[in-house]
Amino acid sequence: MASTPTQTPKDPSVFEPRIVAFLCKWCSSAGSDLAGVSRMQYPSNAVPITVMCSGSVSPVYILSAFNKGADGVLVSGCHPGDCHYLKGNYFARRKIFLVQKLLSFIGIEKDRFRMSWVSAAEGAKFAQVVEEFVRDIRTLGPQRKLKAKR
Ligand code: FES
Repeated sequence: MASTPTQTPKDPSVFEPRIVAFLCKWCSSAGSDLAGVSRMQYPSNAVPITVMCSGSVSPVYILSAFNKGADGVLVSGCHPGDCHYLKGNYFARRKIFLVQKLLSFIGIEKDRFRMSWVSAAEGAKFAQVVEEFVRDIRTLGPQRKLKAKR
């Protein structure tokens, strides 16, 4: 007789990072799908938001994610030179540089924000990026600086 797995409730005292992941539809979102269909194991802490291009991610989206309680924000797009819209990821890279400066100015650890390049064929890389990011955010602990009081 086969036994059914039992689910144990999560321990509320264990910090589980909440990560918002803005993923380009043409590459990183497909990379995350590949990781899923390939049954790769990686933490489920990242909430994916598919965007048309990493260049379309406004710094306001990133600050808003932190304000709504994210402990970390990931932006992932096509490799440089592979952007579906040619230069979107170059624009993203410039914006990201400014966001990092702004976050550091307001006292948020720069490691709470990350950018990566993951293609549609790189499911394993996507899983690795998320795993490393979750591990680093776990080390930093909860983000409270920008989180709105409710
Ligand atoms: S289309 Fe993927 S980063 Fe621009």
